[in-house]
Amino acid sequence: MPNFKTLDDIGDVTGKKVLVRVDLNVPMAGGAVADDTRIRAAMPTIRELSDKGAIVLLLAHFGRPKGAKNPTQSLSLVIDGVADVLGHSVMFIPDCIGEGAKAGVAVLAPGDVAVLENTRFHAGEEKNDPAFADALAEVGDLYVDDAFSAAHRAHGSTEGIAHRLPAYAGRAMEAELNALDAALGNPVHPVAAVVGGAKVSSKIDVLRNLVGRVDHLIIGGGMANTFLAARGVDVGKSLCEHDLVDTANAIFDAADAAGCTIHLPYDVVVAKEFAPNPPTRTVNVHEVAADEMILDVGPAAVEALADVLKNCRTLVWNGPLGAFETPPFDTATVALAKTAAALTREGSLISVAGGGDTVAALNHAGVAGDFTFVSTAGGAFLEWMEGKPLPGVDALKA
Ligand code: 3PG
Repeated sequence: MPNFKTLDDIGDVTGKKVLVRVDLNVPMAGGAVADDTRIRAAMPTIRELSDKGAIVLLLAHFGRPKGAKNPTQSLSLVIDGVADVLGHSVMFIPDCIGEGAKAGVAVLAPGDVAVLENTRFHAGEEKNDPAFADALAEVGDLYVDDAFSAAHRAHGSTEGIAHRLPAYAGRAMEAELNALDAALGNPVHPVAAVVGGAKVSSKIDVLRNLVGRVDHLIIGGGMANTFLAARGVDVGKSLCEHDLVDTANAIFDAADAAGCTIHLPYDVVVAKEFAPNPPTRTVNVHEVAADEMILDVGPAAVEALADVLKNCRTLVWNGPLGAFETPPFDTATVALAKTAAALTREGSLISVAGGGDTVAALNHAGVAGDFTFVSTAGGAFLEWMEGKPLPGVDALKA
């Protein structure tokens, strides 16, 4: 178990000003919050503190305004979205530091919830400037970090402030850290990882880290083609980073040395054009024609991968197996996700998924709710899979 304090350790918060770092970097459409997943994720922490009589001050970034005030990136735009999920009104405070912040906070009563303006309107946030972190810390009495998805940033509101106020992990952060620990920190073996997505180049560090940690590495998506090419397979017109064949070979060697089995598809679904429902063929990887593209893992390989998962106790999943947004190339991803979900329901598998397209792919398969844990973090989840330290998490460690 990682060593950090949680809300169980926070003591009496009645009337205390608690700065809660949340991730309100939510997609917008037509001036309204288009996906409130991140807002909902922060609710257990917000409600618990508010119910205990704390003055709850939400700190967050919104977009990348690079230290300048930009009305289109004001957190005032998400206030209604936060209030809708919370079920009562939320105040907006037009600055996160200084007199503007303090004056807004001064009128709040125990139990109130307020959103402070975008931390990234100040250049000191992304620079982790000590003066900015000092100014943030002056606004509250206690600090709670509930934004795992921003924890890969060493910023004032994610890192600097944690050294200046008593610091605790919020409920979402706590759940995330416990799930990640169960998946790669201290997992029950055998452990499988599914890594998919278009390009090896974006996941080299993930793959390098995983071969030393998991027993089975299942590579899918466009990146599998580069590994197939490294094994001498002619992948035709498929997406393939031929310049990374040496990197792929080095990953094969590292896996061999670590006793990790790399699984590549041995049958694939190919088409001559990348479009919805084109004519397709299911072929052995050695039978891809020069004018064909590999767009999904084939049914025989999916069955073999399902057997791998049946023998594993822990699964980490990042990235789809095929071009899942374009039918029928979602077939392998949906089938393997359903197998993982069924094994999780039966209690034989701990399944943790996250990063970018992964949540969309699991939602598409209708199984996100069946996984043990699905992270909504993008970059932070990938950096965790790369084995990199996360400054926002390290700062919470006692
Ligand atoms: C995210 O949207 O993944 C997080 O909020 C981090 O945002 P950033 O990449 O702009 O730091």
